[in-house]
Amino acid sequence: MDLKEIKFEEFNSTEFIESQVADISKTVGKGLAINALSGGVDSSAVTMLGHKALGNRLKTYFIENGLMRQDEPEKVVKLFRALGVNVEIIDVKEQFFGALSGLTDPEEKREAITQTFYKDVFGKLVRDSSAKFLLQGTNYTDVEETVAGIKRQHNILEQLGINTEKQFGYRVIEPLIRLRKSAIRVLSKHLGLPEEIYNRPPFPGPALATRIIGEVTPERIDTVRKATVIIENELQATGAFQYLAVLHQDRVTGIRDGKRDFGLQIEVRCWESKDAKIASPTRLPYEKMERLADRITTEVPGVVSVTYNITKKPPSTIEVV
Ligand code: XMP
Repeated sequence: MDLKEIKFEEFNSTEFIESQVADISKTVGKGLAINALSGGVDSSAVTMLGHKALGNRLKTYFIENGLMRQDEPEKVVKLFRALGVNVEIIDVKEQFFGALSGLTDPEEKREAITQTFYKDVFGKLVRDSSAKFLLQGTNYTDVEETVAGIKRQHNILEQLGINTEKQFGYRVIEPLIRLRKSAIRVLSKHLGLPEEIYNRPPFPGPALATRIIGEVTPERIDTVRKATVIIENELQATGAFQYLAVLHQDRVTGIRDGKRDFGLQIEVRCWESKDAKIASPTRLPYEKMERLADRITTEVPGVVSVTYNITKKPPSTIEVV
């Protein structure tokens, strides 16, 4: 891989901010740029860098793709408004569910999400705004995993030989591409982001779709979203690297009110990791696991079985898709 990582030990936030702000200003010139903010640490850092460089010549959007966590659009808009950044919500739920309809293969689902984001949604946003650039928070680990052929991360384009200008009508600027998450957290703090952002566990671009085995439908997203609320609420205090709910495709026989209930299965994953390259499951107290099972089977309609994943990465990966 040609790209050279900036190691955590050699990372200097002040110098990095200065040079990236200068680069972004120079590249965009007097024109306009857009960026999509999900509320994760990477896209939040890029939003702040972009606004420092371009002010209101950067239009920031929250793409409401129907795959995000509970109340996320409103929370993100409110938080950035308090930082002086205006964020517009773009409702494209139907486009995403349409593109995902009938797909069960993991890489086909990822490809459908990439195409919908970059060709359909961002393509239309740049045409409508006459922007020529898209700023995004691709990081070093995203490139590494995609180039290694493990997973096609949703935001990898040029490194796979995709000419975005030709295919989608805009150029992509990726200020964080040489950094890993640990440096991006330090950077985010320096950029004035609150701790709830710079210490937030990673969340993948294709969002809850990476946590559904089989077809992604609004109903199945609703199930995994409800389980996610419980898992995040119960496991936040562990300080683990990432914790998540997975919805399985197979149903299993359960009992509810003394009757057979052929219901859904949720898998809980909770990871210890430094940079997501390797990871191991957190040794959760048994009482915590029991509480998760009780809450998920009571509060999430249709779920009759909850399991805890005890596999390391590798051979597992952090997300299931
Ligand atoms: P895996 O599942 O490959 O995940 O072990 C490694 C880390 O990357 C996150 N992840 C993604 N992040 N776009 C992203 O921005 C993606 O397509 C994507 N897929 C996985 C995952 O949550 C974990 O932190």
